[in-house]
Amino acid sequence: MSDAPDTNAEFWKSAEQVAHWVTGAQERERQYARPRILMAELLPFGPDEPFTVLDLGAGTGAAARAVLSHFPAARAILADFSPQMMEHGNQAMAAYAGRYSYVEFDLASGQWPDAIPAAVDAVISSMCVHHLTDDRKRQLFAEILGRLIPGGWYLNYDPVAAPDPGVDDAWLRVAERRDPELAHQRTHRTPEQQARYDNHVRYIIPLAPQIEFLRAAGFEAVDVYWKELEDVVYGGRRPA
Ligand SMILES: C[S@@+](CC[C@H](N)C(=O)[O-])C[C@H]1O[C@@H](n2cnc3c(N)ncnc32)[C@H](O)[C@@H]1O
Repeated sequence: MSDAPDTNAEFWKSAEQVAHWVTGAQERERQYARPRILMAELLPFGPDEPFTVLDLGAGTGAAARAVLSHFPAARAILADFSPQMMEHGNQAMAAYAGRYSYVEFDLASGQWPDAIPAAVDAVISSMCVHHLTDDRKRQLFAEILGRLIPGGWYLNYDPVAAPDPGVDDAWLRVAERRDPELAHQRTHRTPEQQARYDNHVRYIIPLAPQIEFLRAAGFEAVDVYWKELEDVVYGGRRPA
C-alpha cells in the first residue's frame, strides 16, 4: 500500500473527478451488467414482493437499478458520502422516482445515519468496499450483519488483488488482449491518471481475507457467487 496521504474523500467529492467518472459510467454499466443482475437474482424475494435494499457506496445507483428493475415492488436506499455522485445519481435514477432515496453516509466512519432503518431486507455494494481499509472492511461486514433482518443477504461486487504474481500476470495478459492500448496506457499515465489509479488500488486486497471477514462477522451461505479475473461477487446471509 502507498504511504501517500489517503485522498479518497477528496477524490469522490471533486466535481471534476466525478464528472470524469460519470463520462464512462453508462458504457461501464452496459459492460458490467451481468454481475449486478446476478446480485439481484441471488436475492430470495418473489417477483412482486415489496422489500427494501440498501446500496452502500451507491454512487449513481448502477447496482440499485439492477435490483429495482428485477423487482418492481422493491425500494432502495442509496448511501454514499459524495454529494457530487448523488447529484448525478438523481438524474440516472429518474426512471425510479418514488422508489429510492439517497442518504449521506461515510462508510469509513462507522457512524450509521438515522435515515438508514435499524433492519433492512438486503444489502448490496458495488465497486466501493475496495476504497476502505482492511479494518473498516471487517467492521463494516459486522455492521451490515447487525442491520440485516434474520435471513437477509449481503452481496458485494468488487475488484480484488491477485494472490500471487503469476495470477497477476495472467489477469494482465487477458486485459491487454481485450484492450491492446492498455499496455501503453499503463506505462504512460499522466499525473492525473496515476492519481486516479492510485486511489483505485490503494486498499484492494485479495479475495480470501474478505471471505474470512464475512465468516468472522457471522455470515452463513458465504460463497464467491461470480468471478471473472479480478472482479468478483461474494456474499452471504445473516443466519435466520
Ligand atoms: C467506483 S464508484 C461505484 C459507484 C456505484 N456503486 C457503481 O457500482 O457504479 C465508488 C463509489 O464509492 C463511494 N465511496 C468511496 N468511499 C466511500 C466512503 N468512505 N463512504 C461512502 N461512499 C464512498 C464514492 O463516492 C463512489 O460513489
